Amino acid sequence: MNTQDVYILAIESSCDDTSAAVLHNDKVLSNVVANQKIHEEYGGVVPELASRAHQQNIVPVVHQALSRANIDKKELSAIAFTRGPGLMGSLLVGTSFAKSLALGLDIPLIEVNHMQAHILAHFIKEPETPMPSFPFLALTISGGHTQIVKVNSHFNMEVIGETIDDAVGEAFDKSAKILGLPYPGGPLVDKYARQGDAKAYPFPKPKVDGLNFSFSGFKTSVLYFIQKETEKDPDFIEKNLNDICASIQQGIINILIDKLKKAVKQTGIKQIAIGGGVSANSGIRDTLKECEKRFGWQTYIPKFEYTTDNAAMIGIVGYYKFLKEDFTDQRITAKARFSI
Ligand code: KG4
Ligand code: ZN
Repeated sequence: MNTQDVYILAIESSCDDTSAAVLHNDKVLSNVVANQKIHEEYGGVVPELASRAHQQNIVPVVHQALSRANIDKKELSAIAFTRGPGLMGSLLVGTSFAKSLALGLDIPLIEVNHMQAHILAHFIKEPETPMPSFPFLALTISGGHTQIVKVNSHFNMEVIGETIDDAVGEAFDKSAKILGLPYPGGPLVDKYARQGDAKAYPFPKPKVDGLNFSFSGFKTSVLYFIQKETEKDPDFIEKNLNDICASIQQGIINILIDKLKKAVKQTGIKQIAIGGGVSANSGIRDTLKECEKRFGWQTYIPKFEYTTDNAAMIGIVGYYKFLKEDFTDQRITAKARFSI
């Protein structure tokens, strides 16, 4: 088997983004993502609409990934795909497509765990982005996930903390919804927060044992606070939007940093790698930079296009599994719940 020049076609379809990428070893040649705008009008992802959109998008997206990489499908070494976790209907589209194409081309099929991929995205070779060394802590924060993982090696990972209810992205999006902001509200909270006073309205930290998180209580405290204030003054949100957003963002950051500090103390590991859509948040990025100075942490943030859901991160896992000849049987099925 040729391990000098490995060309992986990767497919990601676990939620509402249809993505395909081509990698040459650990370098990304193309990474095409088709976002599904349809969900905006419903204020969240509608699973049935997501799987239908994946069916419409997958062929043109794969086509584009191959042509942007300037690779013919006959040159591919293997096909990697997201097996789970995610929405069943969405996963099925990518899984079936990957299986059929691998069978047709008579090349290996490689299943990938989406959460492992968010972490191994740090190993995509990019000139400006340093890679963490083992062991490190990964904080994966998005609309669907909130986890702290102790990463011992590429394929030896332990989840040491996770949310017991909502994901951190949901805390941003649901709080934004309470303020009347459109979906997804996370980036808007970030935008308004930049002009606001983060200490204006302190929100309580939920009491959750160990390294686990809870965000549903946070969202409820935002709801009660806004209800109380708008009863007194119907224009409260409009008059104080920046301060409210800054306070919500600060509340969420406090919860995340609190648990990270605990995880560092518990493991003695000071290398922190973050990923997932919420790692785009400017407040979180600034706070992590401060933690570098204050606590001697080293923090790693991948290029933005590899933090949100994308196929390049599936491809890098595919590459490392290809080197181990860790291939997948054609009888494989998608797995909505799939731990690391
Ligand atoms: O990783 P992602 O694109 O998709 C998954 O959920 O897997 O993450 C999307 C989430 C949404 O909840 C969105 O509001 C949040 O990431 N997000 C942000 C920011 N940019 C995206 N949250 C806060 N601040 C941001 N700048
Ligand atoms: Zn994800």
